[in-house]
Amino acid sequence: MSPTSSQSPQGNTDKAFYVTTPIYYVNATPHLGTFYTTVVADAFARFRRATRGKDSTFFLTGLDEHGQKIERIASEKGLPPQLYCDGIASEFQKTWARAGITYDRFIRTTDSDHKAAVEAMWNRMTARGDIYQADYDALYCVGCEGFKTEEEVLVEGNEKLCPTHRKPVERVKETNYFFRLSGYADRLLAMYDSPGFFIAPESRKNEVAEFVRSGLRDISVSRMSVKWGIPVPGDPKHTVYVWIDALTNYLTALGGPDAVEKDPRARALWAQSHHIIAKDILRFHAVYWPAMLMSAGLPVPRGIFCHGFLTVKGQKISKGLPATRVDPNAIADILGMDALRYFVLREYSFGSDGDFSYEALFQRHESDLGNDLGNLLNRTISMAHKFLRGKLPALDRPAPLAGGQSIHLAVASATRYWNEFSPSRALEETWRLIRGTNVYIDQSAPWNLAKLDDTAGLMEVICNSLELVRIAALLVAPVMPEASREILRQLGRSEDVGTWPDETWHGWRGGTLTEPHPVFPRLDPIVRALHIARLLGETPGGSGDTPPPEVFSSPSKAKPESSLVDFEDFKKLEFRTARVIACEPVQKTDKLLKLTLDLGTEQRTVVSGIAAAYAPDAMIGKTVILVANLKPAKLRGIVSEGMVLAAGEASVLGLATIDTDVPPGTRVL
Ligand code: MSP
Repeated sequence: MSPTSSQSPQGNTDKAFYVTTPIYYVNATPHLGTFYTTVVADAFARFRRATRGKDSTFFLTGLDEHGQKIERIASEKGLPPQLYCDGIASEFQKTWARAGITYDRFIRTTDSDHKAAVEAMWNRMTARGDIYQADYDALYCVGCEGFKTEEEVLVEGNEKLCPTHRKPVERVKETNYFFRLSGYADRLLAMYDSPGFFIAPESRKNEVAEFVRSGLRDISVSRMSVKWGIPVPGDPKHTVYVWIDALTNYLTALGGPDAVEKDPRARALWAQSHHIIAKDILRFHAVYWPAMLMSAGLPVPRGIFCHGFLTVKGQKISKGLPATRVDPNAIADILGMDALRYFVLREYSFGSDGDFSYEALFQRHESDLGNDLGNLLNRTISMAHKFLRGKLPALDRPAPLAGGQSIHLAVASATRYWNEFSPSRALEETWRLIRGTNVYIDQSAPWNLAKLDDTAGLMEVICNSLELVRIAALLVAPVMPEASREILRQLGRSEDVGTWPDETWHGWRGGTLTEPHPVFPRLDPIVRALHIARLLGETPGGSGDTPPPEVFSSPSKAKPESSLVDFEDFKKLEFRTARVIACEPVQKTDKLLKLTLDLGTEQRTVVSGIAAAYAPDAMIGKTVILVANLKPAKLRGIVSEGMVLAAGEASVLGLATIDTDVPPGTRVL
């Protein structure tokens, strides 16, 4: 099913690669759905740059700022539309910068070169005789920015609803410009079957072909009642329909329709253009867009990747459903962006729908990242220091590696799956290598070789392990660029950043190792449960069924310098003394106690994972230290209004207290 470069329209293995995401509406800030598409595109772009050279790839993302929907939102907020769009654009850019999105251009449909490209497309389609004027009377969904037929809408009482947004559609009666889409059915059907074009997965191609076969109507491509957009060339009373405007962005970024015809680089990139979208906008990309391009006398894109929807409890994540809100930034505050990038690329098989849960996210963080990759790095570097003092030159002759063949296979198959645009399978292969290396270390038992003073044996096992970690770091780079960089730094191999590993085994190439430093610090179960409760608490209707916390301790792992906090941030935390005036166990768990705390001016209820260390009666009368300004979180159905400080790694060893008698509610600094 998946395309390979040898199937390119020119029949050669052109190095060029052009990858695009949809341009997102500015009615929402980034959420997990838009994050997913953007991270997928970024990982493909990073892989291509690593394997085919930095200049081979052009990666485009951006924003769809025009149209009725945005016009209305801005006016509801009392803002000029451009000012409103600028605010949302900066939110997207901040999030994408934080997520390591390496776009070559961030396009906004309000950019001036885009207006020129849309005008050029319009003029080309007009010159072809495909644009004409007619009266229009139809149903329109502002949410979709799309027309609906009487057959498509849902009828509820007197109302006609959009089947996607479940909101009333509006009747539009205007004189509009139309595009002669109906004339393109045969050419579209031929295109779906041609080797120069693909839609993946194949099932989506069949769905689109069926739609075209069922008959195409001409589409309205201008609106008189909408002002926020690009005026129709030569007839500025009309505004170009937002989808004609938006789709053209893919050409704008390469210099517009003329450049795609005449400029060699733009032409080469366009010939290898890959649109990544979700299934909601397949018809626009696989029917309208190629027909527009044919009309304009331009080549159609190389391919369309259509992925499924991410859902929360089965409901599509979207701005309109606050209960499905999953905020990438809030997750990154806890786990870092790399962990979230890894999760979405590994967890969901590209093309299918996938349900999101915080439990699954934290679970993968702990198992795949902490236990497998993080632990492998840590133990390898620690052993290199302990047994060989950390200076590991390349061996004169590369050490043979039992199972070298399987390394070759792992790298080759990860590479193949990336080439086939299957990130989750590429990562599966990569993890086969990582887990295999942990097994190799267990079986070679360097600690026994050290006891036997077998320096040559130790050199071999440790150098091989280091090389395997290096290969793993390079293989995960498209997905976790920061972690990859950090692993290579610890291996003393910073020069390898951005390269792709060889499939053949060369052995360790030498390097001076830094001290080991956890790349994916472990979270204690109670801290994790509190994080999950808080993340869920931010989505109305989400709180309540958080898993029970198991033990309590504050994370004590050393943090990389980048995560040190400023004093200003520290000051935001409010610690206060509090006297325990009542305490009882929480039902159905032997880990939690419910405390009633006196803060002098108020009482608070706090749930704390200290039951293994303290009997309820022993708590009464104690003065504890409370983090008093934490957002409340629901634990086992009880709203916990803060957190009591305690010491301990895997379980609670003792409570933090004040050594003199101070009144409850005193600020602790
Ligand atoms: N502006 C149009 C696209 C124009 S492209 C020329 C638009 N914008 S959108 O903001 O609604 O973005 C839709 C896209 O966002 C989807 O196709 C998909 O890439 C991404 N996603 C939004 N929600 C998503 C999920 N719940 N799951 C997966 N992807 C999601 O349509």
